[in-house]
Amino acid sequence: MSLLLSPVKIANLELNNRVVMSPMCMYSVQKRDGVLEPFHFVHYGARALAKVGMVITEATAVLPNGRISDRDLGLWNEEQADKLSELVDWLHSFGTKVGVQLNHAGRKAEDAEIVSAPSLLQYSADYSKPHELDRPEIKEIKAAFVKAAERAQRAGVDMLEIHGAHGYLLDQFLSALTNHRTDEYGGSLKNRYRLVHEIVTEIRARFNGSLWIRLSLTDYDETGVQNTIDDWKQVGKWLEADGIDLIDVSTGGLINKAPNLPVHDGYQTPFATELKAAVSIPVSTVGLLDNPGLCEYILQNHQADLILEGRALLRNTNWLSDAAKQLHDHDFKAYNGSYQRGQK
Ligand SMILES: Cc1cc2nc3c(=O)[nH]c(=O)nc-3n(C[C@H](O)[C@H](O)[C@H](O)COP(=O)(O)O)c2cc1C
Repeated sequence: MSLLLSPVKIANLELNNRVVMSPMCMYSVQKRDGVLEPFHFVHYGARALAKVGMVITEATAVLPNGRISDRDLGLWNEEQADKLSELVDWLHSFGTKVGVQLNHAGRKAEDAEIVSAPSLLQYSADYSKPHELDRPEIKEIKAAFVKAAERAQRAGVDMLEIHGAHGYLLDQFLSALTNHRTDEYGGSLKNRYRLVHEIVTEIRARFNGSLWIRLSLTDYDETGVQNTIDDWKQVGKWLEADGIDLIDVSTGGLINKAPNLPVHDGYQTPFATELKAAVSIPVSTVGLLDNPGLCEYILQNHQADLILEGRALLRNTNWLSDAAKQLHDHDFKAYNGSYQRGQK
């Protein structure tokens, strides 16, 4: 049996295999009310039927103005939570675990009436000028993350991932490139980490499931201002102490800049491996991991503990089934006997 397709336990979370559907915004909430629609049940259900170890839903906003677009999912009210509870039951019925990625887009909110950020720094000319958050507003956002986590708990969600990557609000706080504050939320790395720390510890105290965070370990910045890998290792240690169960390592999105390194299969994995050496909790990797053989190599060589698949699963719902064939993993069990015949 391959490692990729064999079960794994992350703290108390048991997954049937090490393939997790990466959070991917579908921008498909037609009613613009943040509530899951039939599309989402089919979209996520198809991946559950195809046996991903866990589905992570797309970035789900904790406040209306925290949406990337007004077609995003939300978790700021009970109607959204009730529908999420239905989705969780639906995906559980296929034997798949369910994670929800909680987000506030900050200065990258495209349709928000009020765009907010740690500092008055625009993402690019195509984005709105943000308003600088004051302390009461930071408190409101923190409370919104915690309330959304409580709703997720009631909905039966197995895992919550805090979106601390790709230049959204928490990432904006973490980096000196986007955080020029002079209060206790800006300045030193510890101060820039403060909001994440407060959100993580408050959620940890209330949410019984697995708690993950996604981070961008480089901003492709060449001015010397971005967090260094040593800074991220320090953040990783703080996150571990604060009760995070897994760090999901990605890159980019904070500033309007393309990668300054070759973008090839597994190009983000070295960042995960570096962080893994500094923490005791598991670390996942994502990004151009379409080749199952490469995924298996990464796991066998302890470069990361879990594989997140994004676009490969958009192209090919049955990526796992094909991976089993390529890896000669005859133990992989498709959803039922009829699908199993596709393995022969
Ligand atoms: C359509 C689309 C939407 C995405 N939305 C999100 C998102 O909501 N949250 C997030 O953290 N990453 C998001 N991403 C990034 C993916 O989760 C993933 O990290 C990235 O696509 C690289 O992995 P891949 O090569 O397997 O696709 C999105 C990517 C795509 C293609």
